[in-house]
Amino acid sequence: MQAAVYTQYGPPDVVVQIANVEKPVPKDDDVLIKVRAASVNPLDSHLMKGGPYVVRLLLRLGKAKIKRPGVDVAGQVEAVGKNLTQFKPGDAVFGLCKGAFAEYLCAPESAFVIKPGNITFEQAASVPVAALTALQGLRDKGHIQAGQKVLINGAAGGVGTFAVQIAKSFGAHVTAVCSTRNVDMVRSIGADHVIDYTQEDFTKINPGQCYDIIFDNVGNHSLSACRRLLNPKGINLMVGILGGRGILSLLTRLVTALIWSWFISQKFVFFIAKLNKQDLTLLSELMATGKVTPVIDRCYSLNQAPEAIRYLSEHHARGKVVITLP
Ligand SMILES: NC(=O)c1ccc[n+]([C@@H]2O[C@H](COP(=O)([O-])OP(=O)(O)OC[C@H]3O[C@@H](n4cnc5c(N)ncnc54)[C@H](OP(=O)(O)O)[C@@H]3O)[C@@H](O)[C@H]2O)c1
Repeated sequence: MQAAVYTQYGPPDVVVQIANVEKPVPKDDDVLIKVRAASVNPLDSHLMKGGPYVVRLLLRLGKAKIKRPGVDVAGQVEAVGKNLTQFKPGDAVFGLCKGAFAEYLCAPESAFVIKPGNITFEQAASVPVAALTALQGLRDKGHIQAGQKVLINGAAGGVGTFAVQIAKSFGAHVTAVCSTRNVDMVRSIGADHVIDYTQEDFTKINPGQCYDIIFDNVGNHSLSACRRLLNPKGINLMVGILGGRGILSLLTRLVTALIWSWFISQKFVFFIAKLNKQDLTLLSELMATGKVTPVIDRCYSLNQAPEAIRYLSEHHARGKVVITLP
């Protein structure tokens, strides 16, 4: 079978190749999935670039050896291990598994849920990392409540488009920050108010505006500027840092947040989303009932995987970038 692989760290267009690899055979507790679509996340290119050596050490990446990119996947069950009862061949599923940019993969049953009939494989593959991040951030770390005011910075990207819709599904009032070309799109997925960052700096307009939650995918404003926008019990979710700001900026923000936590009433929280089957099931229900509809920017073939990863790493995808397989 064919799969995307890389054997050294570097830019996706240089290091990623489409190679023939052995088709996996499911063990007794595994499900074999014929991949129909996989989506790209910023983490794919971070891991591929290897990052600064210190990051490699922290993530225990070691030497590149043979690596298989991709974690978000949707497809059809081709075979199930003898201990499994939940799925049968032919079921359409989506979930998380390493090496998703491939024709087939094997994974534990617990990493997948049934795909709702009203969404495509491409849409389902868009969900896992981005939507789990939005859900777990807003619900578990932000403790979102109906009627609260939520600002989403980076609202037009993979995580942001889910965050807007999930915040709306909780009954929040959502302010979305994006560039001019995405204003209509974020409005169409439910944002109540949109700030075009090419025209206005959200930390400077509306002084005294009080948000209950700032969900920050971009990390391009100082924590003190964000703090001025939070109500006294407000929470700033530091979801990610886009662009060239890198590890030093992240560490500085984490240390600042830690020190501030002893002195101020607002919270600055960094978190990493986790695979959770119950949450995937909840996201599946939100899609089945039309409360959440994945936004897809571009679809690429498996052969174009390096280009798909490179495009996402430019930080201007509109929703999710997907790799489709026949
Ligand atoms: N903590 C976690 O568990 C977790 C999980 C997943 C991702 N992340 C992180 O979260 C971040 C977002 O991930 P993603 O998948 O959403 O990335 P993405 O899809 O690449 O996000 C791209 C979006 O960022 C927007 N953007 C770029 N510069 C901006 C700016 N100055 N102000 C406002 N928006 C801007 C772009 O909108 P315009 O084109 O309109 O500029 C684009 O729509 C990344 O740093 C990622 O590493 C964290």
